[in-house]
Amino acid sequence: MTKSAGNTLWGGRFSGGTDPQMWALNASIMTDRRLAFHDIRGSKAWVRALQRAGVLTESEAQTLLDGLTQVAAEFAEGQFVFAPTDEDIHTAVERRLRELVGEVAGKLHTGRSRNDQVATDFRLWMLDAIARLTTALADLQRALLARAEADFGTVMPGYTHLQQAQPVLLSHWWLSHFWPLQRDRERLAQVRERTAALPLGAAALAGTAYPVDRQALAADLGFRRVIPNSWDAVSDRDFAAEFLFAAALLGVHLSRLAEGVILFSSAEFGFLTLSDAYSTGSSLMPQKKNPDAFELARGKSGALIGALTGLLATLKGLPSAYDKDLQEDKAPVFRAFDDLAALLPVLANALRTLEVHPERTAAAIGAGTLATDLADFLVKQGVPFREAHHIVGHLVREAEQRGVGLDALPAETYRAAHPAFTADALESLLSPQASLAHRAVEGGTAPEAVKAQMALAREALSSE
Ligand code: ARG
Repeated sequence: MTKSAGNTLWGGRFSGGTDPQMWALNASIMTDRRLAFHDIRGSKAWVRALQRAGVLTESEAQTLLDGLTQVAAEFAEGQFVFAPTDEDIHTAVERRLRELVGEVAGKLHTGRSRNDQVATDFRLWMLDAIARLTTALADLQRALLARAEADFGTVMPGYTHLQQAQPVLLSHWWLSHFWPLQRDRERLAQVRERTAALPLGAAALAGTAYPVDRQALAADLGFRRVIPNSWDAVSDRDFAAEFLFAAALLGVHLSRLAEGVILFSSAEFGFLTLSDAYSTGSSLMPQKKNPDAFELARGKSGALIGALTGLLATLKGLPSAYDKDLQEDKAPVFRAFDDLAALLPVLANALRTLEVHPERTAAAIGAGTLATDLADFLVKQGVPFREAHHIVGHLVREAEQRGVGLDALPAETYRAAHPAFTADALESLLSPQASLAHRAVEGGTAPEAVKAQMALAREALSSE
């Protein structure tokens, strides 16, 4: 017997068998087997809906529900044995159900299509996946906040264009990576909202012919609403694309954080030392300690972006409803989830266990980073900012020509630049602490502003 002739789902109209290579191409079981529990949940709800609609008797429904419970137990215990005819997870579950409860299993698929079934399974899976990612993401945020709290008071140069710009608190830098993740978490919550819409009952595309109460079915499965158009219900993969966008952007955020940590842990910066537990060595160079966890974050973000663009390209030309192209929707989503689920806890713990070198970060602050403060001081004396910028620019050039920092220019040079630059004024101006203190604006890097920011961050996490 060929596989297609043995296929209980669609073998009826076929006389010849499927070519084995065609079978292998078409089968999705290796990918969608991980939907097993969601498929069974969906089927159980469908059984209850058919019973409420008077399509199944109470005893038929009970037999099917008990059988499905047993199939789920086999999956949970790792006892489920796939058959060579199991084309996809839907076929596998129904085949096993028939072996367990007999011919009544043939009533399960009444009024249902794999088109609405797979869309339902995938959405149910995604709701669970989003919940898991959200938890892991919040924990990474917690690790960043813990760093901000532990490293409070540590000063470092802030960079723009990767050139020294102005002094900042290291806590401010950690938190600059906290807020993007907060937006990622909000985005995932929005994706969850749109994912929680019920396709089941749409059948192939036109809606089921049985009087199923779809509102009750939605409630039974934890969906918030019924998709209003049955045709759209079986076509729509926006939830998968949106999930992949959220995953890709999260990946970009992780990659940028990773790039900073990699850079700052290099010998040239020496700001951070990663713990051995989250680093790896070189097979050739005995001295090497590599920041692989962060490099993998940076590397995997590429594949996350690829997953999104790949799915969008798959979707864009589809004529209508369910097309087999849509079978390609799951692998990129599963991979994105797996990558993030593997990365997030490792990054959180790598951050928790790294060591900061406050003396190195402080020593790295060049006096040039205080140039803005000198200009701001002149502004306070009534000098227009543009002119103040110019005056300080000359001082910077002078310092450069002498090969010294701004803080090492002679007092006369300063006084010649502007009489307000007295020794006392300069004394209180030319320190990173003074520079920080000037930036007490909401969201700024002054210690009290960063404290307020940490309180906001704690509040953002409190709902988790
Ligand atoms: N294996 C399919 C998928 O993952 C299930 C839906 C098949 N539907 C169909 N009409 N052939 O998309």
